[in-house]
Amino acid sequence: MIIAVDGPSGAGKSTVARILAGKLGFLYIDTGAMYRALTLKALENNVPIADEKKIFELARLTKIDLRNNADGSLSVILDGRDISLDIRKPKITQFVSDLAKIKEVRQVLVRLQRDLGLSRDCVLDGRDIGTVVFPDAQKKFFIDASLEERVNRRFKELKCLGQDVSENDVAKDLSNRDNIDSTREASPLRKAEDAIYIDTTKLSIEQVVSKIMEYII
Ligand code: DC
Repeated sequence: MIIAVDGPSGAGKSTVARILAGKLGFLYIDTGAMYRALTLKALENNVPIADEKKIFELARLTKIDLRNNADGSLSVILDGRDISLDIRKPKITQFVSDLAKIKEVRQVLVRLQRDLGLSRDCVLDGRDIGTVVFPDAQKKFFIDASLEERVNRRFKELKCLGQDVSENDVAKDLSNRDNIDSTREASPLRKAEDAIYIDTTKLSIEQVVSKIMEYII
């Protein structure tokens, strides 16, 4: 079974998808982490994100693995190196949406997502899972929340990671990424027609997970 979880940044979809996968014994695939991993590699190698040809070349020469750990966490491995924490840094967040706009890069990563997804039952989270990566997924969810609530959640999350950010910075970043992700030409963020829409603004993570579980079993 394939479960697609899409939605804007900060709506809580990664946490929900990870818990859901754990409960069901499914593989969890964080597709945003793949775009982040490639952004990290580009920045480390001084490849300008705007140079679409070079970024595409880089994508083809890159190996990204996702490991589901026994404690429920996810390790992101870039060319054999664990970069799980590095990809959450503000510099990566700042550039990742621009890299994710590149059509050819998306094709490389979508192929990887499909290969992984077809290997066993899984929960994938991203922006285009229900519309492009797995349009035939058995279950599709679109997880949303008000911008104010998403800013609030992301701010707390970054503070926990020890990052020195202001709420204003987080608000600017989320609005900017919402805008790039939903207006880009290649696979823009949108709800699949057959996806179940869940507004999580006033719900806890546990409530969202149990709501989704009701639709699955
Ligand atoms: O979910 P996230 O914040 O880690 O995603 C990082 C960026 O990657 C986000 O700005 C949009 C992009 N992305 C995408 O375009 N398609 C996906 N399936 C997942 C993420």
